[in-house]
Amino acid sequence: MPPDEGCRRCRLCEGRTTIVLPSGDRRSPVALVGEAPGEQEDLRGEPFVGRAGRTLDRLMAEAGLERGAVLITNTVKCRPPGNRRPKADEMAACRPFLLEELAGKTFVLALGLSAAEDLLGRRMVMKEVCNRPLQADLGQGTVTVMVTYHPSACVYRPFAKDALREALRTAASYL
Ligand code: URA
Repeated sequence: MPPDEGCRRCRLCEGRTTIVLPSGDRRSPVALVGEAPGEQEDLRGEPFVGRAGRTLDRLMAEAGLERGAVLITNTVKCRPPGNRRPKADEMAACRPFLLEELAGKTFVLALGLSAAEDLLGRRMVMKEVCNRPLQADLGQGTVTVMVTYHPSACVYRPFAKDALREALRTAASYL
């Protein structure tokens, strides 16, 4: 079950306009997991519809991955104040929803280290894990998890953009 409209499981409820639920195909074998809704997402109730979303859309198109063919979600469903990173207890409060969304997936792409650390339960260094297939038990058996750069990290960083595009190509190969 998704969070209900009045969810107060963590302090992020205090500043939110909307709870941002996943978009795309809930039954897809592939999921993309971002960090947290930003301003536009909070206003519109949909993940990745602001600036980072436009970067993601462009790179998905270049990788031959249709937005409607995958599930797109975030570690937390409510916008953190000032777009700060979600805290561990906030991600923990939202994790049951995330795990339910990811049930049955075969490939999960973590966009950025917040998503990676939430999914894999440990601290990581991007350079060490970037675009390598990892195995993780997300509660319903083993799933391939790949960690890559967050779209907002791609501005002025061509190597990050290349890595994200390549990871999206890998995601497309799981469809
Ligand atoms: N950044 C994210 O991590 N998620 C969104 O939905 C938007 C921006």
